[in-house]
Amino acid sequence: MCGIVGAILKRGQVLQGMIEGLRVLEYRGYDSAGVAVATADGIRVAKKAGRLEGLEGVLVERDFPDAQAGIGHTRWATHGPPTDLNAHPHVDDSGQVAVVHNGIIENYLELRDELQAKGIELKSDTDTEVLTQLIGEELKDSGLAVAVGRALARVRGYYAIAVLRGGSSPEVVCARQGPPLLVGLAREGTWLGSDVLAVIPHTRDVIFLEDGDIAELTASEVTVRDMEGKVVKRESQRVDWEASHTGKGQWPHFMLKEIHEQPDVLAHTSFHRIDEEQGDVRFDEGGWTDADLAGIDCIQGIACGTALHAAHVTRSLIEGLARVPVDLDFASEFRYRDPIVRPGTLALAISQSGETADTLAALRKARELGARTACICNVAGSTMVRESDSALMTQAGPEIGVASTKAFVAQLVAAYLLAIRLGRARGVLSRDRGRELLNDLRTLRPKMEQLLSDDFREHVLGIAQRHQGVKGFLFLGRGINYPIALEGALKLKEISYMHAEGYAAGEMKHGPIAMIEAWMSSVVVTGHGLMAQKVRSNIEQIRARGGPVIAVGADRESLDLADEAMEVPDCGEWLSPILNVIPLQLLSYEIARLRGCDIDKPRNLAKSVTVE
Ligand code: G6P
Repeated sequence: MCGIVGAILKRGQVLQGMIEGLRVLEYRGYDSAGVAVATADGIRVAKKAGRLEGLEGVLVERDFPDAQAGIGHTRWATHGPPTDLNAHPHVDDSGQVAVVHNGIIENYLELRDELQAKGIELKSDTDTEVLTQLIGEELKDSGLAVAVGRALARVRGYYAIAVLRGGSSPEVVCARQGPPLLVGLAREGTWLGSDVLAVIPHTRDVIFLEDGDIAELTASEVTVRDMEGKVVKRESQRVDWEASHTGKGQWPHFMLKEIHEQPDVLAHTSFHRIDEEQGDVRFDEGGWTDADLAGIDCIQGIACGTALHAAHVTRSLIEGLARVPVDLDFASEFRYRDPIVRPGTLALAISQSGETADTLAALRKARELGARTACICNVAGSTMVRESDSALMTQAGPEIGVASTKAFVAQLVAAYLLAIRLGRARGVLSRDRGRELLNDLRTLRPKMEQLLSDDFREHVLGIAQRHQGVKGFLFLGRGINYPIALEGALKLKEISYMHAEGYAAGEMKHGPIAMIEAWMSSVVVTGHGLMAQKVRSNIEQIRARGGPVIAVGADRESLDLADEAMEVPDCGEWLSPILNVIPLQLLSYEIARLRGCDIDKPRNLAKSVTVE
């Protein structure tokens, strides 16, 4: 979704750094881009629909001025189509202030009518321009920060905004209510961004703004006030991500790089937390001791997209290993139904970004209804981490590819650790059983690496070549691997735009079987024990109807029955989703590549969905 970057500097020019910041933010998904810089006479703006290269072309043509203060934006259209005019920044009638905005101003129509009645002509279709004009109006009799506060007091909705005022001493103000916004304190000046990745090339000392904050930036300091104008203290935090993590290195795509980082992600997320002696897990983050967990009788999982698939696996792990009942819902459904939250409920959100609007809203709702809250999250300092009673951090590092891969695997690893911790805390798992489970995890890394060898990738490429032209794909799985079927189908849809459906294998006979024919390929995730037998009969049924089958997993008999096999080393049932998903990620990647798709930036998708 939309990205914001900006700065006010003591020395050097702001433009280059802003363009680099916008480039980093491209991964979030966008359809237009723009920048504004402060000049002695006011504001200069350049904006363009389409990719960042288009904006850069405009900057070259126009000989855009060097400046030390500016704001920039990548837009993902909500109000009005992605045109040059609707792109941000927007400038007020007097030409003094420019605004970039993430979020939605819900009462913009009534505010627009009011402005039009005053004779202010609006040039774009956006809600952001309305806010810009309001700030411009308020600026007639107050300073910038006060004008921003007054304008925001009239607005209903949610926003992260950055506001630039031109002139001989330029000013930058930013504010947040909903979508994330942070300020980075660098030697050469002060940066702001909607995402840590936009500021880490300049600094790792970051202040995460909170809802209702209005921050006034100078090149050497930041003053944060609440909506009433009272100064509030916000500590800066040091983020441990490196700027180098945001590059592709030798890899053709971030997605492929991130798939190959998964063995490291396993190690970083788990190995330091293993207590070999006790057959248990230790989390540095607060909230996971025996005493903390004693009152938890059930868990309500909430998440969106790929993270929801991780939540399904989490349910199997926690119910199977710790015997705590787990209920699940799409965050977007949970927030609008009238859910019953029983006493003793832990609401567990799973999210890579920690900023997904629906997941945050669902977590807040669960809290209102009396649940204790927790999250499994990849971004330190994110809203979800700050708002949850306890957080469990995945250590996947920045994930840039829009289609989530390594963050998903990190979530599965964290869920496995959590299930062991819960099982040990409740006395359901013995120390010896805990040790066995942790040993299985320790030995997983080389097995993951086998699936990332050149030979295996070649093999998957062959399958991709043979199936890229089919009408559609059916992904089937059971038990703990049912969500892996869902995830396999989602990955393929996201990046190759092929029709793919994920289904619980046992449900096949209730509908999907009607679709089986020679041009419908089925990817079947094999199972363990009883589940393996059940899945074998699915394979037989599909083949009997002339449908090609690609089997993935460790069950030899299932692999032998299928037309194509992606064999995975055996690692036991509980960890099998982590290995089984890797061939499916690779299959989607290869099919998308063969079809010439934009793998890291699939059409219409956003990495972090911070609006509803
Ligand atoms: C978007 C992304 C998905 C992601 C989902 C949830 O749809 O494209 O990859 O799974 O949001 O995001 P979260 O940050 O909460 O995990």
